[in-house]
Amino acid sequence: MEKRDQLYEGKAKVLFSTDDENCLIQYFKDDATAFNGVKKGTIADKGVLNNLISARLMFLLETVGIPVHFIKRLNDREQLVRRVEIVPVEVVVRNRVAGSMAKRLGIKEGVVLPRPVVEFYLKSDELDDPLITLDHIDVFNWASHEEVELMIEMAHRVNDVLLGYYANIGIHLVDYKLEFGRLNSDMDTLVLADEISPDSCRLWDMKTGKKLDKDRFRRDLGGVEEAYQEIVDRMGVSE
Ligand code: TMP
Ligand code: ASP
Repeated sequence: MEKRDQLYEGKAKVLFSTDDENCLIQYFKDDATAFNGVKKGTIADKGVLNNLISARLMFLLETVGIPVHFIKRLNDREQLVRRVEIVPVEVVVRNRVAGSMAKRLGIKEGVVLPRPVVEFYLKSDELDDPLITLDHIDVFNWASHEEVELMIEMAHRVNDVLLGYYANIGIHLVDYKLEFGRLNSDMDTLVLADEISPDSCRLWDMKTGKKLDKDRFRRDLGGVEEAYQEIVDRMGVSE
């Protein structure tokens, strides 16, 4: 696989074209942002750790039949992925109240939800990723009715798998964000895309409640690198 031009640079990753029009190389940076780019910094080796974590989780999801854009990890910071057109909505799955849900609804962080909640946000840094309704997605054509149904169904399947996986390594999967894309080779096929890492998940140690995710960076809690490394160690994916 030949790496060609840089196509896109996001806040945490860079995408390169390859000699296959349907495949891209996804490069993981150490750059960290929070509050949609307002707070900026770097987390040493975050790219390496997130590459390992996301590759393992995407592989796991694929093995249980969830379609993913991930193909394989190429090296420390790169993975080969299927080229997709990203659906412009972020899908957030919540098992416990935290973050913006706690703030918006005035409910204490940590409260266990009686069932997983799926929310949609518009992918827009300028607008601060506003919470949107299913009607908004429909009326502005961000995704079709079928795609929305599929995203909700896949989000629940992902949640079943990841909740169990994290519980096994002593971690509460509090909430996380998923992104979906339409395959370049077949726009009717929706797959899980982007990454699943401590950048986009809230992960709390089951015994101590210690936060092992990007909230350590967002809230200036310190020990950010160590938290990401702890996830890699518990997952047993250090190479
Ligand atoms: P929130 O509580 O800020 O809405 O975030 C919910 C989850 O989604 C949390 O695990 C962090 C993740 N997330 C992202 O990955 N990117 C984002 O832009 C936002 C707003 C949240
Ligand atoms: N991902 C968003 C950002 O980079 C929001 C966040 O994670 O807090 O700013």
